[in-house]
Amino acid sequence: FAFLPANQAWAEAQITKYPEGRQASAIIPLLWRAQEQEGWLTRPAIEHVSEMLGMAYIRGLEVATFYFMFQLQPVGSVAHIQVCGTTSCMICGAEDLIGICKEKIAKNPHEISADGKFSWEEVECLGACSNAPMAMIGKDYYEDLTGARFTEMLEELARGEVPTPGPQNGRYASEPL
Ligand code: FES
Repeated sequence: FAFLPANQAWAEAQITKYPEGRQASAIIPLLWRAQEQEGWLTRPAIEHVSEMLGMAYIRGLEVATFYFMFQLQPVGSVAHIQVCGTTSCMICGAEDLIGICKEKIAKNPHEISADGKFSWEEVECLGACSNAPMAMIGKDYYEDLTGARFTEMLEELARGEVPTPGPQNGRYASEPL
């Protein structure tokens, strides 16, 4: 693994933001950039980032395995969809979204769809409970989902379109009740 030149320069700039001896604090942004570049975190990528930060590989792996934002196996080329399955989302329809993932993407979490474009998994609460049910794609939250809207979003993504993130019914949690 090697960062592309622009990413390498970016990574080196991140490291300089931390005080001497605290370079390991840059682990999350560097791992995230490696994942953005490759689609998922390979062992060589974690090794490379750990080495850049003067950390043992096992320390880098500890961070990569702790956060579910990091993918440690190949994902769909278009999107890896993380559906929240915790209480608020479960009550408001997460089961429908998961059913759609099983039907339209692949039967099992982390399995890649036949066309190679999608993968999915159920994750724990992503902190957007007031706009349940929701799913995260990349860094974006898609909230107030319905089965119909979620299906439509998958179709948009498959066509190469990027659905607008945020509440999918136009509601914002900050609006007065
Ligand atoms: Fe789904 Fe919190 S329960 S975002």
